[in-house]
Amino acid sequence: MMKTLLFNPSAIVTVDTSGKNFKRGKELSEIGCIYEHSIFIEDDLIADILPTSSIDKNKFNKFIDATGKTILPGLIECHTHTAFAGSRADEFRQKLSGVGYEEIAKKGGGINTTVKAVRSSSFEDLVNIIKPRIEHFISQGITTVEIKSGYGLNFENERKLLQIINFLNEIYPIDIVPTFLGAHAFPPEFINNHQGYVDEIVNKMIPHFADQKLAEFCDGFCEATAFSANEIDEIFSTADKHGLKLKLHTEQFNSIGGLDVALKHKAVSVDHLEVIKDEDIPKLGKTDTVSVLLPGVSFFLNHTYAPARKLIEKNGLIALATDFNPGSSHISSLSLIMSIAALKMKMTIEETISAVTINSAKALCREKSIGSIEIGKKADFALFNTSDYADIVYSIGSNLNSMTIKDGIVIYQN
Ligand code: NIG
Ligand code: FE
Repeated sequence: MMKTLLFNPSAIVTVDTSGKNFKRGKELSEIGCIYEHSIFIEDDLIADILPTSSIDKNKFNKFIDATGKTILPGLIECHTHTAFAGSRADEFRQKLSGVGYEEIAKKGGGINTTVKAVRSSSFEDLVNIIKPRIEHFISQGITTVEIKSGYGLNFENERKLLQIINFLNEIYPIDIVPTFLGAHAFPPEFINNHQGYVDEIVNKMIPHFADQKLAEFCDGFCEATAFSANEIDEIFSTADKHGLKLKLHTEQFNSIGGLDVALKHKAVSVDHLEVIKDEDIPKLGKTDTVSVLLPGVSFFLNHTYAPARKLIEKNGLIALATDFNPGSSHISSLSLIMSIAALKMKMTIEETISAVTINSAKALCREKSIGSIEIGKKADFALFNTSDYADIVYSIGSNLNSMTIKDGIVIYQN
């Protein structure tokens, strides 16, 4: 048995939950910072947190020096569209000159621009495009990342994307969680036959992808330019029947019933919520469905921000993610998202830390094994080059991570 000592850090931010494994409302600000302790790792699990001064070094056969560092649980990125090809810099240019994101989508651009690029890329092309993105996540201290399909929009290309995401999970030491997002947009061939595409999703894609275990979650985009609440209802009923867990992009630009459909199906998370109605906010305080906020999108599109403070006041269970994608958040830095959340949504530094650790674990149904530094959980850590965790959020746009540990093994160091 490997007995590793992660010794002498400046601080350990445990994000302790006393075994509850998520934080809601005011609990988000309680992150449990301890000093003068070291972490005892047995194989891939956290065995104990010990006072550094009383440690008998003979009991260990491996040492990782954390002097001067602040240790956090490995960060968890719970919402990305990392599996894309091509560039939408042209559309970014148009947006800067005043053309709206939805306007570009209505003209056949937006998501469908990326669909063209994905369909014309081979498995190998896409793997080579995506690899450096995963490596960039790892360099930030991210030890689990969710990646959605959603730029194939037919059986063959959605399958290709899911196979790629699963392949990347095999070759990288971090955990990559595959989400099927066939209901992202209507592809050009079904633009005038929406039910025809919904039929493809429910009759072909979901049964096959669930059977082949290519996806763990099924996601959708409930929006005026995308899928109606009724269409999502049909897709979720099928996904649920096939054992997929549910997530929904909803209340991003319009509130058209997505939130209620997601709650009806006990979705694991509802993502976006920029335009959630005031009267709907208390609903999220009464359910374990996680609100995944994506302030990078508001920043990138100059759009309104989700009401983080009101959600927290109403006992919401909030996570944060980059939504890394080519069209609405071409941002792959999770610490930048924490900074934007603090500055623009008025979250405290402590709340942003809970939101990228334990609560994002909850948004991926992994809260029992990751997301906090508690005995028995996975030895996944991010070591930051500072003695004050506030620096992570304060150093806007910088990557302060200096070591990433996954399953007790150092997988990145700089
Ligand atoms: O989460 N909302 C829909 N999907 C993405 C955007 C994807 C794109 O524009 O390519 C989002 O914002
Ligand atoms: Fe998204």
